[in-house]
Amino acid sequence: MVTIKIDGVEYKVDEKKNLIDAVKAVGTDIPYFCYHPSLSIVGMCRMCLIEIEGNPKVQAACNTPVKEGLSIITKSKRVLESREGTMEFLLANHPLDCPVCDKAGECDLQDNAFSAGKGVSRFEFEKRNIPQEEIGDNLMINHNRCIVCYRCVRFEEELVGESNLGLFQRGYHSIIGLANEKTIKHNYQGALSDICPTGALLNHKTLFKSRVWWYKTAKSICHGCSTGCNIETNVRDNKMYRYMTRENAELGMYFLCDKGRFDIEWLNENRLFSYYEKGMPSESTKVIPKILEKIQAATKIAVIGGAHESNENLALIKAQADAFNKEIVFEARVIKPQYFVPEQADFLMTTDPHPNTKGTFDLSFNSQGGIDAIVKEYNEGKIDLLFIIKEDIPADLKGSGTIVVLHTNITTSVKDADFGVPIKTFAEQTGTFTNKNGIKQKFELAIQPLQGLPSSGDFFKRLNLELSMKKEELAIGNN
Ligand code: SF4
Ligand code: SF4
Ligand code: FES
Repeated sequence: MVTIKIDGVEYKVDEKKNLIDAVKAVGTDIPYFCYHPSLSIVGMCRMCLIEIEGNPKVQAACNTPVKEGLSIITKSKRVLESREGTMEFLLANHPLDCPVCDKAGECDLQDNAFSAGKGVSRFEFEKRNIPQEEIGDNLMINHNRCIVCYRCVRFEEELVGESNLGLFQRGYHSIIGLANEKTIKHNYQGALSDICPTGALLNHKTLFKSRVWWYKTAKSICHGCSTGCNIETNVRDNKMYRYMTRENAELGMYFLCDKGRFDIEWLNENRLFSYYEKGMPSESTKVIPKILEKIQAATKIAVIGGAHESNENLALIKAQADAFNKEIVFEARVIKPQYFVPEQADFLMTTDPHPNTKGTFDLSFNSQGGIDAIVKEYNEGKIDLLFIIKEDIPADLKGSGTIVVLHTNITTSVKDADFGVPIKTFAEQTGTFTNKNGIKQKFELAIQPLQGLPSSGDFFKRLNLELSMKKEELAIGNN
C-alpha cells in the first residue's frame, strides 16, 4: 500500500492496482471507456482525464502509475471541462440511438454522457452513417455507435488468441472491421458484445428481446463447466432471458464464454414436470410407491451423476440414501475429464461440462472403481437399482435391474428409464458449487419453481421418509 492524495485528501491505496481501480476502492470514480482491468493499457479514449500535481497538462489516469506521494485532482473545473470536451468529440458522430439500442440502460457511453457530458451538442453537420455489418455467427457491428476504444481488438488478441478484428482508416474515417474475409466463429462473441462500452457490438441471440431494466436479477454461477464463472441472471416473466458477467476482481473473473452464456433454453423449454413410468407421463402417487418397493427389494443400489447438483443437494442425497440401509455406491463421474485435473478448452472454459465435479469429491460422492465398475456390476446383476441424476443412461448398460432417472428436462434417458423423476434446475433454488480450483461459490434463486417440484435432495428425503413410514406401519402391524 502507498499513500496518495486524491482531491487534497490522503488515502492508502494498493499500488498494484491501476489508478482508476485504486481510487475507486476508496470511493472516487473516474469515468473511462478504453481501460479494462484484464487488458493492456492503450490510453485511447481520453475519458479518464485528471490533473496531477506538478504536471501542467491534464493527463489520462489509466496510464498513470500509482506511487507514493502522487497527488491527483479528479473534480476541478479544468478536469470536468476536459471530460466534457472528450464526450463532445465521442458523441459528434454518435446517433441519438438510445431508444432503439439494446445496450441502453447498461451502456457506459450513456452513463458517462449523463455524468460527465455537456448535455448539449454543438455539432451541426451531418453525422457519419455507415451500414451495420454481420461480423460473426452471432455478432453484428453498428459502426455509428463505435467510439474506437479498441477493447474488442485487444480482447481478441490478448485473451482469445485470435485477431479477427482490426482498426482501419484514420481520424473521421476510423472503422473497426474484420481483418480478413472470415467472420468470427469463436466462443467469445458474447464477451465481445459485453466488453464494448457502447451498443456497437451486439449479439443476435439477445437482440431486441427485452429492455434491460425489465429484468429481475440474481447472483448466480454458470452451470456450463468447472470454471464456475460468476454470472448475473436476467429473468423476466419467470423465464431466463440471459446471463451476464458478474465481475469478480478478486478471482479475476470478467468474462463468460458463449457455451455457458447462451445455454439457457433448457431452463425455459422442454421441462420435465411430471413423473414418468416406462416412457409415459405418470404421477408421483403411482411412481414413488413402486420405487420404494424396488429399494426394499434391492441387493445393491448405485447413484450415478450429480455433478450438476449443488453441494447441499449432494449432501442431502448422500445422507438420505445411506439411510436406506442397503449396500450403496455413489459415482458422480460419467465422462473422462471428470477423472483428471480439468483441462482448459480455451482461456476460460474447461473440458469438464459440470459445475460441481470438485464438490462431489469433497462430499465423497465418488467410488473407487468409477463408472465402469458400476456398469459392470449392473450388467452382472450385482447392482439391481440404479439412480441416474441428470445424465444419460450409460450406452453400455445391459442389465435387467431398475433404472430411475432424475432430470430437469424431458430427455431420451427419462423416456428410456423405468421411472423418470422431475427435479428443480439450479436456477430454481439456492446452493453452492465448488469450482475446479476448490472455490465454493453461492448461487441464488432466480426463477420461481413450479409448486411441489422437488430438488434432487428433496426427492431422496421423501423416499427415505416414506420408507421409514412403511417400516413403522409394518412394525405396528406386527405388534
Ligand atoms: S466496437 Fe465497441 S469495443 Fe470495439 S472499438 Fe468500437 S466501441 Fe470499442
Ligand atoms: S467458462 Fe465455463 S463457467 Fe465460464 S461461462 Fe463458460 S461454461 Fe460457464
Ligand atoms: S480509460 Fe484512460 S484513456 Fe481511455
